[in-house]
Amino acid sequence: MFNRDGHFGRKSLEKEFQAMRLIEHLTKVDKNTRNLFLPAHGRGTGLPKDIRNLLKQRPGLWDLPELSEIGGPLEEGGAIADSQKSIAKRVGARRAWYGVNGATGLLQSALLSITKPGQAVLLPRNVHRSLIEACALGDLKPVLYDLPFMVDRGHCLPPNRSWIEEVLNDLNPVKAEIAAAVLVHPTYQGYAEDIKPIISLLHEEGWPVLVDEAHGAHFSSGLSGELPDSGLKAGADLIVHSLHKSAGGLTQTAVLWLQGNRVDPSSLERSLSWLQTTSPSSLLLASCESALKELHSSKGKRNLLHRLEEAKELTRRLRKEGMPLLENQDPLRLIWHCLNQGINGYEADAWLIKNGLTAELPERGCLTFCLGLSKHKGLEKFIKKRWERISLCLAKYDDIPVFTPPPFAKVSVPEMNLGLAWRAKSQKISLSTAVDRISSDLICPYPPGIPVLVPGEKLDRKRIDWLSEQTHLWPNQTDQKISVVANESNLLKSE
Ligand SMILES: Cc1ncc(COP(=O)(O)O)c(C=O)c1O
Repeated sequence: MFNRDGHFGRKSLEKEFQAMRLIEHLTKVDKNTRNLFLPAHGRGTGLPKDIRNLLKQRPGLWDLPELSEIGGPLEEGGAIADSQKSIAKRVGARRAWYGVNGATGLLQSALLSITKPGQAVLLPRNVHRSLIEACALGDLKPVLYDLPFMVDRGHCLPPNRSWIEEVLNDLNPVKAEIAAAVLVHPTYQGYAEDIKPIISLLHEEGWPVLVDEAHGAHFSSGLSGELPDSGLKAGADLIVHSLHKSAGGLTQTAVLWLQGNRVDPSSLERSLSWLQTTSPSSLLLASCESALKELHSSKGKRNLLHRLEEAKELTRRLRKEGMPLLENQDPLRLIWHCLNQGINGYEADAWLIKNGLTAELPERGCLTFCLGLSKHKGLEKFIKKRWERISLCLAKYDDIPVFTPPPFAKVSVPEMNLGLAWRAKSQKISLSTAVDRISSDLICPYPPGIPVLVPGEKLDRKRIDWLSEQTHLWPNQTDQKISVVANESNLLKSE
């Protein structure tokens, strides 16, 4: 195939070039399959009408630069500034900024705006990787606190006020270095706590609170009693919503809300400009507006209420049939506890995909289905049929296994500066020989994108044993090899 110069022949190159088919993948539709994954608009069916109408226009008509009448998220004038102002007013927030790099980009900007290099930040162990990355970008010290862990399913739950009180009691000596605190609300699987009392506690310490509400934009719709309160209502200073995960936005759309006076809007704008493209997509910005307008309009709330009622009814009926669906606080996330029936979640996921049903989040103990904002006619029958068949094909454990909780201390700080360890010269060694070495990498199964090891953390025997166990539990996601800092004694001396 290679010619004498070591290059591919012309014909092979042409064949490879012609074989590029991404666009075909995007338009493939199989009427016999159900997609219970994100984005929440369910391949367009849950998109608001105005954005659907826009997409019916001449393709590309809407793809505009930052013309003066349109502006951008950081401009003072123009349609985007007006739109951000209007939606902030509607929601009762001080300011709002649209984002086109997902919750990821806005979370990172938000954290960098409330911290200075060298300071520490209080983070739960189930923090999304984007905030660990922000620590590396901003030279921040992550102070990680452990969470309640459910051994039957392998999920961590959000903390309540008394859990956080214990964490605060365990924070010395690093407490004085902490500049801000982060909460994740809800979790990927839709578990949520009342965060208002937790935010009050953190405020008493003098810290601004950033709530990663990537999965809970719909909590802000104000349908009280139907969903947990949003960080907006609970008094958080900064709240980030991923509009494609929990509202009717296109992928990459997100919004950042600012409340109160603890955070200076100009420091936010500065860090937004560090991480934002200078050419934000006008289509995505319009989709931010459209998703939020829908969520906070009477019609949008009515639609959401219908989706929630349908989801609750579906859950009730499937449970009545015997399907073990776990309790959570978001009716739009269905957690099937497959291990409870002796079925491994990854095997279940592969089987269901072959049989026309794709879940959002496969884990060893559970499969989480995201119902999103689309109507799902006939879904109960569709799931029930597959669930009955899968129970016959895949159930294999006689004794249902339980999960070993991760051996995290209640509060821990990486032994080495996270950013230094991440950038350090590294070597890949087998896990079994890594005792007392310092990790130079993030180990982070995706989804859910929650790190189980962050750069700079030291690997003790308990951690290694637990990680080795995980390599069997997350096939293809974790490795028996690990990257460790190569010249750690020199680096530790230089800190
Ligand atoms: C808790 C949490 N926060 C933030 C994000 C990042 O969201 P986005 O994909 O919109 O960047 C995710 C993505 O999975 C997440 O699960």
